Order: sequence, then structure tokens, then C-alpha cells
Amino acid sequence: MNAYRLFSPLLFRIDAERAHGLAVAGLRLMGADRAPAPGPLATTVAGLAFANPLGMAPGFDKDAQVPDALLGLGFGFAEVGTLTPRPQAGNPRPRLFRLTEDRAVINRMGFNNGGLEAAFERLRHRKRQGVVGVNVGANKDAADRIADYVTGLTTMRSVADYITINISSPNTPGLRDLQGDKELDDLLAAVAAARSAGDPPVFLKVAPDLDADAPARIVDVVGKHGIDGIIVSNTTISRPPLASPQAGESGGLSGAPLKDLALERLRDFRRASKGAIPLIGVGGIATAEDAWQRIRAGASLVQLYSAMVYEGPGIAKAIVAGMEHLMRRDGFSTIAEAVGSE
Ligand code: FNR
Repeated sequence: MNAYRLFSPLLFRIDAERAHGLAVAGLRLMGADRAPAPGPLATTVAGLAFANPLGMAPGFDKDAQVPDALLGLGFGFAEVGTLTPRPQAGNPRPRLFRLTEDRAVINRMGFNNGGLEAAFERLRHRKRQGVVGVNVGANKDAADRIADYVTGLTTMRSVADYITINISSPNTPGLRDLQGDKELDDLLAAVAAARSAGDPPVFLKVAPDLDADAPARIVDVVGKHGIDGIIVSNTTISRPPLASPQAGESGGLSGAPLKDLALERLRDFRRASKGAIPLIGVGGIATAEDAWQRIRAGASLVQLYSAMVYEGPGIAKAIVAGMEHLMRRDGFSTIAEAVGSE
């Protein structure tokens, strides 16, 4: 019996942000199960060994409260954050909406988080089994946004297996402007200058809402500054046709209606990078088929968030089992062989 199926009607009757708080509290209570052992899907990306290529996307565990419990659910890695140098409250509530009819979520949280230092203290005490990435951003009122990213990197590098530079949240006004040529060059030059030997890999997370020439330009700048991977993508500010009453809420849309757009963007980045830079595919992944399609389209790793809202915590193990089957069906013996093979 799937307990989540039993309880989700109750969870869905309470406000989305409270339900999310309960889910995190539940995971804290459960505590950390063992991280998954490396199986047939084990893979190495940017020098990191992943037990499997399915990760929990950031936004679920913003304050690094439950990374090990997430690994215990069967995820091959967990990305915590977004964390900003100073704690901040985020936007007024309500700011998180379930679009049940669309299997989607709209959020305009606005980087609510307890700040880098508090998360650092939590992560410092981990046993460090399994890959945990830390996603960093800029405070809304930062005088110097680039300096905030550098602070994120230098504060968290000793406790993070990788760092994600998140310039793609639609909920901090002007943040996505950092994807522009000059701004991105300045940002990534500052990040590169702050890195030292022994630092973890650094990934860049981009929006799906980009001009046609943007992927090639971003790939150039990323290559120039030695960034180790690109995460495609964050939520969309576009609105494909939606059926839910909350469809008109402002914020970033994720889940099923983001799937085609995120896949298309991943293919753009694969074309632009020709396999030279690892890509991480995220957006609307809800099944093993979705995850496998993203791998075939060029993703070395994949992540999800919204689908867990609808499918529950069993989703990681179910998708990983399904991907093992699909890998064998298509005649591959490793994930790396399958990456970009479509
Ligand atoms: C997010 N996402 C997100 N991403 C990020 O880099 N930093 C963040 O703080 C957040 N916060 C956040 C909150 C909520 C409520 C949602 C639903 C999403 C984006 C997330 O990591 C992912 O990129 C998108 O949600 C697309 O994946 P899914 O949800 O379609 O699987």
C-alpha cells in the first residue's frame, strides 16, 4: 500500500507551504536512512561519484535540514538551497501554489532562507556519505550581487560536494540579467578568481526562458571560466496552456507543463557544447521515461522536485528502478554511454 496515496488528499487540503513544512519536518523526524549504494546506474560527473544520476532539485531543502534523509529516499544526490549570505524572509505569503489539474507548481518564494552560516553549521556535522550540492544566490538587497556569489562559494566550499551558481530564479528582480554576456562574464570571472585547489566543482543553473542565441553564448563564457557543468533549467515565467484556477499566479512554473521547454533547452545546450561540458537536466521529470529521455538528450545527471509533490517520497526509488530497466532495454551498460545518444 502506498502510504502517500492514502495521506496526500489530506496534505492537499492544507496550504501548500504548510504542507511543504510538514514534509520537511517528517523527513527530519525519520532521520537519515542510508544513502543508496552505487548500483548499475552509478556514474562519475565532474570528478564526483554518484550512486545514481537522479537528484533532488534545490528549493525543497532550502536550509540544508534534510539532505541525508533525501539521499535515504534513494536519490543519488541532493542539492540544498538556494542560500544567500544573509538570512531573508522572501516574498509575502501565499507564494507557493499547487496546480493539481496540471501536475504543476507555481512559486514566488523569493529566496526565503536562513542564510549561509546556519546551513554551514548543519552541513559541517554530516558524515558526508552521498553527494550533496549547495546552491547559492544573492540577497535581494545586495549592494554587490557578484560578491554574494563569491561569498556563497567561499563559505560553503568545505562542506559542499559541488556548488551551484543560481542566476535563474525569476523571483529576485533583475537576477536573471546576470545571464547577459557582460554580466555573466564578470560574475564567472569573479567566481573563477575565488576558486582554489581542492575546491569542489562549480555548476551554473540557467533559466529555460532564453533567446535562441543564448545557449551558445552561455556555453562560451562557461568554457572560458572553467565552470564544470550547466544545470538546465530553473522554473519558467512563460505560461503554456494551464487548466488550474491558480494558473494566473505570478512566479516560476514547474512540473509537467515545463517538461517540453526544459527538454528543448537541454538539447540547445547539448548542441552548443557538443558534449564538452556536463549538463544536468531538470524540469518536469516525473517518470523513468522522462529521466531517460533527458539522459539520451545529453544530460549526465537529472533532478526533480515538483513530481515528488504529486507522487510522494517513493518516486526516487521507482524512477531509479525504471531507469535501470530502460538502460538495459536500450543496450547500454553505463549511463555515460547513453548520455547524448539520441
Ligand atoms: C524551486 N526551484 C528552485 N531552484 C533553485 O535553484 N533555487 C531555489 O531556491 C528553488 N526554489 C524552488 C522552490 C519551489 C517551491 C519549486 C517548485 C522550485 C526550482 C527547482 O529546483 C527546479 O529547477 C524546477 O522546479 C524544475 O523542476 P521540476 O520541479 O519541474 O522537477
